[in-house]
Amino acid sequence: MNRWSDTFPLFPERATELAREIDNLYFFALGLTAFFSLLIAVLVFYFAIRYRRQHEDEVGKPEKAGIWLEVTWSVIPLVILLGMFAWGAKVFFEARRPPSDAIEYYVTGKQWMWKMQHPDGRREINQLHVPVGQSIKLLMTSEDVIHSFFVPAFRVKMDVLPGRYTTLWFRADKVGTYRLFCAEYCGAEHSYMGGSIIVLEPRDYEAWLAGRTTQPQRVATGEELFTRLACDTCHRSTSAVQAPILNGIFGHMVRLADGSEVLVDENYLRESILNPGAKLVEGYLAVMPTAQGKVSEEELLQLIRYLKSLTPETAAASAAPAATTEASAEEPGS
Ligand code: CUA
Repeated sequence: MNRWSDTFPLFPERATELAREIDNLYFFALGLTAFFSLLIAVLVFYFAIRYRRQHEDEVGKPEKAGIWLEVTWSVIPLVILLGMFAWGAKVFFEARRPPSDAIEYYVTGKQWMWKMQHPDGRREINQLHVPVGQSIKLLMTSEDVIHSFFVPAFRVKMDVLPGRYTTLWFRADKVGTYRLFCAEYCGAEHSYMGGSIIVLEPRDYEAWLAGRTTQPQRVATGEELFTRLACDTCHRSTSAVQAPILNGIFGHMVRLADGSEVLVDENYLRESILNPGAKLVEGYLAVMPTAQGKVSEEELLQLIRYLKSLTPETAAASAAPAATTEASAEEPGS
């Protein structure tokens, strides 16, 4: 961590290691640009005076540039720029790849608010409480138009799109409250569409979680939805109608009816739930009804979270019929 950049004014606060890395890169590029601009400007003036025309009839004579001079001024910038590219690529990959220990939270943008959901289904509006030092991955979508999730102090920004998922991750290393903005013009109240990310000590976060057992705020769990939408009548090994068994498929490739292969990720699951015929798995008929209109964006996120949790080991357990169905009696409104 470098101290001077932490206190540099005119810049938003830095609350993640990534923020410092991005700023270092930025300051380096800025410094380099300033150095060469200044150097060239000074040389222009110096040469203009030093080699100015001194007699009326003086004519310039062509100068033959040496090969080594040309090589020098080509190679030095090349090395510097390639270095900056490599550095930038490293920071970019870090920014785009959530660490494997990241905990997933959900974000749904809508005109004009941010709806957040904790891993346990708990919800917040325009606020997100997270523990300090923990990698947080946000799986985000929009209920209407394009928004953009922007937290300057973390130096993260990602568009939030209707109809698909985008992700963003951060690991705040300073306790505090950080502003959240919508950074994509989304209608009349775009400028009010903001909120805060509240970073707490882990024990304070636990206390906060414990102090907010607001049941009505809870979204139906993915498992409840799996039953409510009757997914379980086909997608279980004991089912009469054969549908692909979903256990352990997440993160793997599946072969489709047209012979191509697709990676099972959040976007594929989403598409298959809402538009089952779009990418049909090889060997199955297009008989699944769409869940379009039957689930909210937040419920969809819960359902996908549940599907991701299904491992080959839980297949045996879930094959046991009727054990989990009493949960479906509860029908919370969205
Ligand atoms: Cu949402 Cu701008």
